[in-house]
Amino acid sequence: MQKVKCAVLGATGVVGQHFLKLLKGHPYFELAAICASDARTGKKLAEMKEHVKGGIPAEFADMSFDPIDVDILVKKNVQIVFSALPADVAVDIEKEAARKGLKVFSNASSYRMDENVPILIPEVNFPHIDLINNQKKESKGYIITNANCTTTGLAMALLPIIPMGIKKMVVASYQAISGAGYPGLSAMDINGNVIPYIKNEEPKLLAECKKICGIFENGQIKPADWEVHAHCIRVPTIVGHLISVHIELENETHYNTVLENIKNYKTPEAVAGLPTTPDQPVIYIDDVDRPQPRYDVNIGTPKRAKGMAVAIGRLEVDKKIVRFITLSNNLVRGAAGGSVLNAELAFRKNMF
Ligand SMILES: NC(=O)c1ccc[n+]([C@@H]2O[C@H](COP(=O)([O-])OP(=O)(O)OC[C@H]3O[C@@H](n4cnc5c(N)ncnc54)[C@H](OP(=O)(O)O)[C@@H]3O)[C@@H](O)[C@H]2O)c1
Repeated sequence: MQKVKCAVLGATGVVGQHFLKLLKGHPYFELAAICASDARTGKKLAEMKEHVKGGIPAEFADMSFDPIDVDILVKKNVQIVFSALPADVAVDIEKEAARKGLKVFSNASSYRMDENVPILIPEVNFPHIDLINNQKKESKGYIITNANCTTTGLAMALLPIIPMGIKKMVVASYQAISGAGYPGLSAMDINGNVIPYIKNEEPKLLAECKKICGIFENGQIKPADWEVHAHCIRVPTIVGHLISVHIELENETHYNTVLENIKNYKTPEAVAGLPTTPDQPVIYIDDVDRPQPRYDVNIGTPKRAKGMAVAIGRLEVDKKIVRFITLSNNLVRGAAGGSVLNAELAFRKNMF
């Protein structure tokens, strides 16, 4: 099979290095270019600091950084751009790349709320991928985003609950330091501390969650009409966002019904069997003190889908109220792994 050439923008960062790890030996995609800030141009990947264990795979170590220049990527026959750039940098470069025919899979927030750009989490909303048809008027390529890392974990955990009819949701997230990238927060700020505010995080979670779980009809998305409230809190863990979820359903239910829905949840056929699709997207852990970032952050099988599932524990049900704790890997499921899975779905749908 002819592999599709791809580039990673922001390849020195924590998300970028997860992309490199996931692209090692990928069955569909071949890494053809890496880019970061101007100061890296011409330097070899091997000279960079490895922030993520295995984030500088030996097979890519001799690659040199290109400047971020769409024309160079086009000359290198790159078709896919995996973007791990800060939003203010991504805004121009992603648009230009899409205009010139590249397919952009982005982690940046720049275009998430654009009405023609899907926030794709394949297990949750695979039909939304067709929203890219609306981009054809102005671009030869397209932009597909993934959600903010907390929202991704939440939306995945809702998979077995959505069919039961959600009315209202109150969540509190306990988010790891790596969510702020490298070097992130100062040790003085976060060591032995908890910070009850993450800039822009709560509005992003509210808006993105409703868009992701909305219905795609007549070429547009009708957002979910749930009432949602959120507190997003930074805690001194390294990887893994834990969320306490409190849901009010439309109708009364029973503990065993919800538990069975979670345990029996099956990946939609449209997404099953892709290289990075987890066999089971939502995994219930019975132990009363789990999930924990230390033990459960890499949950998911097969090997390529480690960190792509979300863990749920501590389920409680009382009439219309459903409560649980969920944990997801912000750098894999919430970032690089999510984008790679989105590109795999596009590959299956012959969108390159
Ligand atoms: N961390 C997460 O959990 C997470 C989850 C979901 C989404 N995201 C989003 O993913 C993106 C990357 O996040 P991250 O956590 O990986 O951040 P990071 O560790 O700070 O990495 C940022 C990357 O962008 C590059 N960069 C910065 N300024 C640039 C410029 N002016 N021109 C070109 N390249 C530039 C950096 O290159 P240099 O090293 O050369 O400066 C680095 O490679 C952000 O938009 C973030 O919001 C992050």
